[in-house]
Amino acid sequence: MKKLLFLLLSSLVAAAPLTAQDAPKPAQPPAHKQKKEKERPDTDIEKAMKKMGGAFRKLRGQAKAGAFTSDAVDLVATMKAAATEAAKHDPLKTKEIPEADRAKFVADYKAKMDEFNTTLDSLTAALKAGQTADAVALVGKLGKLQHGGHEEFQPKDY
Ligand code: HEM
Repeated sequence: MKKLLFLLLSSLVAAAPLTAQDAPKPAQPPAHKQKKEKERPDTDIEKAMKKMGGAFRKLRGQAKAGAFTSDAVDLVATMKAAATEAAKHDPLKTKEIPEADRAKFVADYKAKMDEFNTTLDSLTAALKAGQTADAVALVGKLGKLQHGGHEEFQPKDY
């Protein structure tokens, strides 16, 4: 019986590395991302948005924990610089918009980025005043603006 158990256990141990090797490869990124990476470099808006993404992830984590750390004001400043840069450029989707509506589309994008920047200013003020509940709510508002901005201004097949 002991021998049988030993044999069983040793075959399990021997099988382990094989199982790890045979594990399925991680899923590929979605098709549109692969296409984008192959066909064109990042737009100026994308470069700026990626900078915002890193800072916003940290701020959201702090908001979720209900406590902001001493780097929070700097993170907001990083977002503000990136959002200001992003607002200077026309979204990729602009060329999909009928010419007659294009100026309005770009103006709407800039107005939304202005609202985003004003919200960042309010967040800085709340953080400096130690108003944590207000700051948490403002981080939530930024998340909503992000979602709405992407719905409206990113290309459909993005
Ligand atoms: C917390 C705020 C935001 C974050 C973290 C964020 C992040 C991102 C990321 C990661 C991308 C894709 C970059 C890539 O894959 O190369 C992107 C694209 C984009 N975002 Fe945002 N975003 C935010 C807010 C906004 C807002 C408020 C707007 C509009 C008012 C907006 C408009 C866009 C547009 C138009 C693109 C497509 C790029 C282009 O047209 O060139 N984003 N964003």
